[in-house]
Amino acid sequence: MAQEKQKDGATPWSGRFNEPVTELVKRFTASVDFDQRLAEFDIEGSVAHARMLHAVEILSANDLAAIEKGLAQIREEIRAGKFKWSVDLEDVHMNIESRLTALVGDAGKRLHTARSRNDQVATDVRLYLRAAIDDISGLIKAAQRALLDLADQHTDTIMPGFTHMQVAQPVSYAHHLMAYFEMLNRDAQRLADCRKRVNRLPLGSAALAGTTFPIDRLLVAKELGFDGVCENSLDAVSDRDFAIEFCAAGALVMTHLSRFCEEIIIWMNPRFAFIDLADRFCTGSSIMPQKKNPDVPELIRGKSGRVYGHLLALLTLMKGQPLAYNKDNQEDKEPLFDTVDTLIASLRVFGEMLGGIEVKAEAMRNAALEGYATATDLADYLVKKGVPFREAHEAVAQAVRFAEGRGCDLAALKLPDLQQFSPLIGKDVFAALTLDGALKARSHIGGTAPARVKAAIAKGRKSLA
Ligand code: ARG
Repeated sequence: MAQEKQKDGATPWSGRFNEPVTELVKRFTASVDFDQRLAEFDIEGSVAHARMLHAVEILSANDLAAIEKGLAQIREEIRAGKFKWSVDLEDVHMNIESRLTALVGDAGKRLHTARSRNDQVATDVRLYLRAAIDDISGLIKAAQRALLDLADQHTDTIMPGFTHMQVAQPVSYAHHLMAYFEMLNRDAQRLADCRKRVNRLPLGSAALAGTTFPIDRLLVAKELGFDGVCENSLDAVSDRDFAIEFCAAGALVMTHLSRFCEEIIIWMNPRFAFIDLADRFCTGSSIMPQKKNPDVPELIRGKSGRVYGHLLALLTLMKGQPLAYNKDNQEDKEPLFDTVDTLIASLRVFGEMLGGIEVKAEAMRNAALEGYATATDLADYLVKKGVPFREAHEAVAQAVRFAEGRGCDLAALKLPDLQQFSPLIGKDVFAALTLDGALKARSHIGGTAPARVKAAIAKGRKSLA
């Protein structure tokens, strides 16, 4: 009976059952359509496992050689697109194992000694995610370099800084760009920190309780480049917090890209006209011939939503699971894969798009001149002459009202006009009221003074080297 089932190509676990699963159940429970993406990591993990089994004398040298040869062939078949994936074999692990046994016979059947798919899949996902984190970190660095290149050209390009989306104080465009450099810096740090917890080996935990074989987990960890092993077998096969953590870090990356994109969209609107975005990042309308739409930044902004969704999906997936492994965990893969894909695609196009930003310095400067952006500088000027800040604030508020009535900027008022608001105001006030003066005066660490921002750019470059 059992032998008959094996002949039908039944799954390795079906010996215990009286009837096969229905077609519907087979398709419902299978993951091979999406987890075949883990194939190369699965093979890498199997080779390390087999080598360890040989090292502790569970597997003969001949069997190990056969397994390594068979797995190498399977890797080639997969790369060449010739591997036949079968939904009957449920997932990536059983597809590969079954092919291995077909290729090398009994040695293939011995590979799963002291192992379960539970610790196997957890290992595969960690290997996959480690590689993905490295790719994503590289792309974040590339985007940071593009920010630095753009910032380099604009330490003297003055624009209004905003609070509440209203003109607040003048800043340089470089300073504005460097704010995003800092955000991406923290994103990279978060991913590097997450990587430490990803980079632990679950293998050896077997199904949940460990194994009766005298395995050497540290050897496998070393072979696979893990920093150490997961310390508890139940935890190792069940928790996916490392993937959740990655998605949370990824959600923040998308938040930062999305904020930048939102500004591009607003700023390239002719009402702002602070920038233009090269045609290669825009598309037209099929009905309105005049349109040039910022589709690329809009899509990045839009894609942040799906990454947030995946984070929530994984949190929800985990919260109700009793220890240890449950099939629920099979649902970790698609959200995780899509988070990785979305981050990679968004970061790539984002980095390239930064090279397509054309800055309209004059429009930026004019906007900074229009909104009384140096009002705080006038208040600071009075404070330096001995007026308490609150009184200075009030005097400047009156001056702004006056200038508004005249329809001009503070710097355009005559000295006697300004002196109505404080007799302490002298000729030297005009230096404080210019945009360039306002920038230069903010020369402390973190300030927008051109020299300070140049130093920040240099520091940033050094940190990426
Ligand atoms: N496809 C499964 C997953 O992704 C592999 C582990 C299955 N283990 C089990 N006991 N059913 O989680």
